[in-house]
Amino acid sequence: MKKAILIGPFTQILPLNKLPLRGALKDEQLEVINHGGIVVSGGKIIAIGAYEELKKGDHELEVINESQVCIPGLIDAHTHICFGGTRANDYAMRNSGKSYLQIAKAGGGIWDTVTQTRMASKKQLIDGIIHRSNRHLKNGVTTLEVKSGYGLSVDQELKMLRAIKEANSQVKQDLISTCLAAHMVPKDWNNSAEAYLLEISESLFPALKAEDLTQRIDAFIEDSAFSGLEIAPYFKAAKKQGFDITVHADQFTPGGSEIAVHYKAISADHLEVSSQKEIDLLAQSETIAVALPGASIGLGCDFTPVRKLLDAGAIVAIASDHNPGSAPMGDLLTPACILGAFQKLSNAEVLAGITFRAAAALKLKDRGILEIGHKADFISYPTNNYQEITYQQGQLKPNGVWKNGTRVNPS
Ligand code: NIG
Ligand code: FE
Repeated sequence: MKKAILIGPFTQILPLNKLPLRGALKDEQLEVINHGGIVVSGGKIIAIGAYEELKKGDHELEVINESQVCIPGLIDAHTHICFGGTRANDYAMRNSGKSYLQIAKAGGGIWDTVTQTRMASKKQLIDGIIHRSNRHLKNGVTTLEVKSGYGLSVDQELKMLRAIKEANSQVKQDLISTCLAAHMVPKDWNNSAEAYLLEISESLFPALKAEDLTQRIDAFIEDSAFSGLEIAPYFKAAKKQGFDITVHADQFTPGGSEIAVHYKAISADHLEVSSQKEIDLLAQSETIAVALPGASIGLGCDFTPVRKLLDAGAIVAIASDHNPGSAPMGDLLTPACILGAFQKLSNAEVLAGITFRAAAALKLKDRGILEIGHKADFISYPTNNYQEITYQQGQLKPNGVWKNGTRVNPS
């Protein structure tokens, strides 16, 4: 049998375990293992602790030669990295003062990406996902969610979700797929939200199950997309067919988070305009609040009120929202650190939001912390002080990335 491997010594290891899932965190709550090691076998962590102690065991050694801080692999719980084309012109128009409506009228907006994604072949979509996933890997992301939502017909959504499934077998990370067929009412459905959603729930949902393409159904609840009333039968059908629900909520107008809580959604994402009413509702629910600071930066909008959400006792994850329209930077750590600076988040709160709290937003119980029995997904940064990770706002890049116990980036 293959021997277990002891990886280390790391100057500091932050296991991020034993921290509460919900609410505010102080940095004093962070456990730091100095001069630590991690023993991996069969893709899992089988021991973690003081390096010199672990060295007494009969392991192969993978020696780290410089000061390094090790944390769990980052988890990005909300992306749209399957798409065709670009929306650079939207960005330029927005920054020259054009409104959402003016941009849409000039051929921009989500529909522009739908047109470009429909024209792309499945192979082109797969190549795009692989390219973007590799960039996330360099930044330490070892699991990421990927949504459809630029197909907006049964066939085109299937094309996207098949592309995500195939890309998953070709990238180093785990890609968790989500069906976002309810992203906007497609223009070719003549503004008939009801008929479109019925077609999706009756024809696409069973195909998703048959081909095992996703467990998750998302919807954009917004004045410019779907109302709570329109989405109700859709979510009921999704739940009946055994899917988990997640919602794009309270981005420009409030209301989506209430629907999310009502349907016991796993997560409500965005929440830039959530008021105290929505904050309290989320805090008293099991629905995870997912902040998307990359979209605030991309659109020049306010940040999600994460400080208030955490202080009220909500579960808060932070994700990139990587998409061609609102979050073109597509990075996870940099926007998370900037959010931290604006919302006064501790290091523990930022790191929790992109690790174990993000895992919870994807219902993944086997990762996000460094603990015996969990996946050996971890990353290391070339520093001897974990505070440098958020301090350098994403410019300190990981020099070690391990997925299932195997180093997946060049040493
Ligand atoms: O999460 N808000 C809706 N959907 C995306 C934007 C998609 C796009 O503009 O292409 C988001 O920000
Ligand atoms: Fe999104």
